[in-house]
Amino acid sequence: MKHAANKPVLITGGSGFIGSYLALALLKRGQRVVLFDRDPDTRRLTGFGQAYTDYQKEGMVTFVQGDLSLLPHVMALFDKHEPQSVFHLGALLSAGTESNPTMGFQVDLVGTWNVLEAARLYCQQRQGMAPIRVLFPSTIASFGRFLPTPGNVANESVQMPTTMYGCAKVASERLGEYYHAKKWVDFRAVRFPSVVGAARGPGGTTVYSTLMMQQPLLGKVYDVYVKPERQLDILYVKDAVNALTSLHDAAKLPDDKRRVYNIAGIRTQGQAPSTQQIADAVMANGVAADRITFNAFDAGLDTTVQGFGILSDQAAKDDWHWAGAKYDLSATIVDFAKELKAAPGRLKALELF
Ligand SMILES: NC(=O)c1ccc[n+]([C@@H]2O[C@H](COP(=O)([O-])OP(=O)(O)OC[C@H]3O[C@@H](n4cnc5c(N)ncnc54)[C@H](O)[C@@H]3O)[C@@H](O)[C@H]2O)c1
Repeated sequence: MKHAANKPVLITGGSGFIGSYLALALLKRGQRVVLFDRDPDTRRLTGFGQAYTDYQKEGMVTFVQGDLSLLPHVMALFDKHEPQSVFHLGALLSAGTESNPTMGFQVDLVGTWNVLEAARLYCQQRQGMAPIRVLFPSTIASFGRFLPTPGNVANESVQMPTTMYGCAKVASERLGEYYHAKKWVDFRAVRFPSVVGAARGPGGTTVYSTLMMQQPLLGKVYDVYVKPERQLDILYVKDAVNALTSLHDAAKLPDDKRRVYNIAGIRTQGQAPSTQQIADAVMANGVAADRITFNAFDAGLDTTVQGFGILSDQAAKDDWHWAGAKYDLSATIVDFAKELKAAPGRLKALELF
């Protein structure tokens, strides 16, 4: 990723799970970052230890506490820090939006509008400035009902979300496209399946996919609530970060025919892994078999997971030469274990889950 050295990249949700991995990846490339989050707990970053502390000392990273749902907070952020690009990751995830849909609407939908609007005003107030890139992570949950199961969800499948989270993501996708069509911002988005990795937060229905790796690797027992045969599209967080930066770096998307791209997760012989296959891969990494149990079966959650599709990322491959996820199941577990061992201070209190 090549940037002018003097201008930072803004990451909303910068102290979150994906945001902290993205921040570190950008810092490693010499890119200055501004992290915006309402949560001042930066343990996911400071937990990396000396590496992160050094970046702080060098003035490479600035943390700004604020609320996405307040336009003045977001506008002040652009005015003060003058970013060259924005990764808008700040959001409440599905569990948060379902427990408080009003707040979910404010953060996930109004918050996205605030970012787009602040970006538009910021560019327009600086004469001659090209529309800045605004990267956005949407979700497999934006498809909702009427998915072909089993089967791949094509990029342009009908989106009929059933949750506030999914509704806000679909609306944000369309808003971004509108702002792009007006040439107010250069909007680019991905749709992720369930993202797994160390220090993921409370993520609702699919969080078991991370916890059945993380807890046993920490020497604890994890009781899974879906059937062993249940398949789930999962993507390692480093591939998620790679997808965001690759799409950011793509020079131009062909004919500007679409701005939002499905990103497919781990495949084993073309199939998304089953829960049992994930458990087997964790055990192959030296974890005792009794550390993963299937006693917490919940028929409702299992049915919900069964309804999630498997994303096809053919459009991303065609349009900007997305190379696909690099981490297979085994590489994911190995790297996950390495992260847990090297930086245990990144984990937030597990009661969060
Ligand atoms: N984790 C996944 O499986 C997954 C899958 C698809 C898409 N996504 C999207 O990726 C993005 C990052 O997800 P994550 O897994 O890192 O979640 P996360 O909860 O770890 O990070 C989100 C961050 O947003 C911050 N935030 C929430 N409300 C805010 C507000 N009002 N103002 C400022 N900051 C606020 C939170 O404090 C948190 O640090 C989100 O947009 C999410 O919808 C995640």
